Amino acid sequence: MAVILGIESSCDETAAALVTSDGRILAHKLAGQEAAHRPFGGVVPELAARAHVEMAIPLVEAALAEANIGLADVDAIAATAGPGLIGGVMVGLMTGKGLAHASGKPLIAVNHLEGHALSPRLADPSLAFPYLLLLVSGGHCQLLLVQGVGDYRRLATTIDDAAGEAFDKTAKLLNLGFPGGPAVEAAARIGNPAAVPLPRPLMGSTDPHFSFAGLKSAVLRARDSGRYRAEDLAASFQQAVVDCLVDRTKRAVDVAGGVTALVVAGGVAANEAIRGALAGLAERSGLPFAAPPLWLCTDNGAMIAWAGAERLALGLVDDMDVPARARWPLDPRAEKARGAGVKG
Ligand code: KG4
Ligand code: ZN
Repeated sequence: MAVILGIESSCDETAAALVTSDGRILAHKLAGQEAAHRPFGGVVPELAARAHVEMAIPLVEAALAEANIGLADVDAIAATAGPGLIGGVMVGLMTGKGLAHASGKPLIAVNHLEGHALSPRLADPSLAFPYLLLLVSGGHCQLLLVQGVGDYRRLATTIDDAAGEAFDKTAKLLNLGFPGGPAVEAAARIGNPAAVPLPRPLMGSTDPHFSFAGLKSAVLRARDSGRYRAEDLAASFQQAVVDCLVDRTKRAVDVAGGVTALVVAGGVAANEAIRGALAGLAERSGLPFAAPPLWLCTDNGAMIAWAGAERLALGLVDDMDVPARARWPLDPRAEKARGAGVKG
């Protein structure tokens, strides 16, 4: 049994965790930065990088103390090497390299998206490859066939905004506060999802991809009409996102075939309405449904440590010159999706 230290710093969460190769979480520590970014209504990369510098080592020390072990008891050090805000990624990766060098332990450079993609197997070790994954986060919205560790086929991506980005921008438009996703979900709970007629971009299309930019603009126009309450706008927006995600995922279920389960991961997977609707789709499709617990959906160190454990088991370790990468697609063979602001 191996113990892996995981370090995450790709966006606005600094995190460190210790996870065993048989899936036990010995410790997980996290420092959010909401207070630093709230005045700006979004993540400021330079502020994020500075906060990661301040928090990375103290969080590693706190995780080791909680697990009651020392660095010498760790078998490998996994750190996010991208994709993400490059300053923050560099901080976490350099921290990992420094610790690996000082301790003589192997370094594992983890793709943040692989951390999300494999996190359902930390939550449920019986989840076998290949599974169909809806990966929905602040920067990405993709349907992936997870065929094995390091083996991903991208079936769909967004042609403009990511789902989490749409939640964050809608929260800003409706003045609901930061971070946006949970704020929209809270407002939606007391709103009427049928109150505001909003579009469902690409719904029913034979094109496999997602699109959310038009939906966000429609929310802006509806808001400016002055006819609707913020709660109803939030609930109607969330319902439109749910409908699009379910429609696109259903299409992928139909074309993928032969998967073991339908799985959702990434920060937006913390949304109860989205989880519930996807669970319903899985049931109608005769597939088991898996979603990590809420804390494992949003960015954390345990998913990076776990991806490190999965890679270590296959002998996949990295050299000290491995670079930090702002962009790093999980499926390098995937064709570019058409559209203006294509993400990964
Ligand atoms: O995976 P994550 O923590 O960071 C990235 O890798 O991007 O995802 C963050 C995203 C943000 O856009 C946030 O607003 C969204 O996940 N999010 C939610 C909820 N909780 C977080 N979106 C909708 N409903 C939620 N409850
Ligand atoms: Zn993430």
